[in-house]
Amino acid sequence: MDITFFLNGNPVSLTDVSPTTTLLDWLREERRLTGTKEGCNEGDCGACTVMVTEGNISQALNGCILFLPQVNGKHVTTVEGLAAPDGALHPAQTAMIDHHGSQCGFCTPGFVVSMATAHLNGSTDHDTQLAGNLCRCTGYAPIIRAAEAITDQPVPDHLLFLAKNTEAPQPLQTPALDDPVVQPHSADALAAWYAANPDATLIAGATDVGLWVTKQFRDLGKVAFLSKCADLRGITQTADEIRIGAMTTLTELETAIAPHHPSFAAMIRRYASVQVRNAATIGGNIANGSPIGDGPPALIALGATLHLRHGEARRSLALEDFFIDYGKQDRAPGEFVEAITFPKQPDTLRCYKLSKRFDQDISAVCGCLSITREGDRISAARLAYGGMAGIPKRASTAEAALIGKPFTEATMRAAMAAMAQDFQPLSDMRASAEYRLKTAQNMLLRYLHEAQGSATNVLEVAP
Ligand SMILES: Cc1cc2nc3c(=O)[nH]c(=O)nc-3n(C[C@H](O)[C@H](O)[C@H](O)COP(=O)(O)OP(=O)(O)OC[C@H]3O[C@@H](n4cnc5c(N)ncnc54)[C@H](O)[C@@H]3O)c2cc1C
Ligand code: FES
Ligand code: FES
Repeated sequence: MDITFFLNGNPVSLTDVSPTTTLLDWLREERRLTGTKEGCNEGDCGACTVMVTEGNISQALNGCILFLPQVNGKHVTTVEGLAAPDGALHPAQTAMIDHHGSQCGFCTPGFVVSMATAHLNGSTDHDTQLAGNLCRCTGYAPIIRAAEAITDQPVPDHLLFLAKNTEAPQPLQTPALDDPVVQPHSADALAAWYAANPDATLIAGATDVGLWVTKQFRDLGKVAFLSKCADLRGITQTADEIRIGAMTTLTELETAIAPHHPSFAAMIRRYASVQVRNAATIGGNIANGSPIGDGPPALIALGATLHLRHGEARRSLALEDFFIDYGKQDRAPGEFVEAITFPKQPDTLRCYKLSKRFDQDISAVCGCLSITREGDRISAARLAYGGMAGIPKRASTAEAALIGKPFTEATMRAAMAAMAQDFQPLSDMRASAEYRLKTAQNMLLRYLHEAQGSATNVLEVAP
């Protein structure tokens, strides 16, 4: 396919690009821009971080799992583009030198691009902004000191200029039905093409699909890039409902959900890294059918409905019913996720993500619990878990043990015992079956303690 974008301020036009060429490979092999490094090639280490600007939004993304068509019409800034045209280093580069933030230097370009992007956006939560960049030699204190040192310094003019001038001319594409690689501009165009090509692979943020290519060397055959379907993006609300478009990224969801369900937003903060959250979509997180995805348990606990589309036909189902069995979802060939909705409701949701590392780790168990009370009795309960079965699943026996009972420790302990009938989890590298069940049960106690005002959050450790 043909694409155009800006690279470090210069327009690039490519014809007939292989759709699954990663930006990282192209930068290094075709442009010899070797500042951007390959570490893991799977989104974990941030050595390949680039800044991608669309309109007035600049984001750090991992170039190793970003296919070239995903930057079509955008502006890519690599570490080579951070210094000013006269060669003056970016403040992040100077600060890394001044604060001894680099030893072998392999991670340094990625860190510097993440820092420069955070600096451009005025983000000062450095631990969060840099959690997707790994360094094996320096230690993080000097790197964080470097990030802190530039907080009050002005953004270099050439980066401000780039952020405002990114629109490469983009003819809107109406894909021919026999075109094997498409980037449709609307859900309607996608629906028509996908119905005619039901064996194709849809590519949203490519944080899963990217690894099929970089790690499994799969040939994807026919593909549709969803990134230009503006009507699949964004979050809207009515008086009684919140609707999340399938192409809404985890970063966008984190911001939008925070006023309604802050615990959900806090969990998203621990979902992968800034770079992955900027790319990953909630539609991909559901459609991949993973039993350990973090989005589905929270949405199931909120009583979400999934909206699917095939051509002109649409249908909706409870999100929990979409997950049939391990690797099997209720989605027909040619059918795609259009949106997720859930009712506006008082916030009783608490999300508990349990993983070996705090940042950038897949859940061993993800428990999302919503318990409603009327007076001193529990009137409704939705307890949804990831990591406890082959699919994201509700603890229906434990829920039944809660309903109608007083909101007390005795009730919680009864529900914890009942939960043993809901799940027979697996042992794997992340956790043993016993650990999974015990911690899933204990989340009910934690919910009670939090409701009673006890501090339980590891980010709020009291002296
Ligand atoms: C380093 C790293 C860390 C990660 N950490 C986490 C984590 O902490 N928690 C977590 O839950 N996940 C995590 N993931 C997994 C991944 O980020 C998520 O599953 C993500 O939400 C997938 O979304 P995507 O847009 O990137 O999907 P893609 O990779 O583009 O697609 C995933 C699947 O969904 C299909 N698909 C995409 N959109 C649609 C649609 N609208 N309709 C139908 N099918 C569609 C694709 O065809 C593909 O089968 C991590 C991934 C990486 C690389
Ligand atoms: S090379 Fe490690 S995240 Fe891209
Ligand atoms: S300086 Fe060596 S990996 Fe960071």
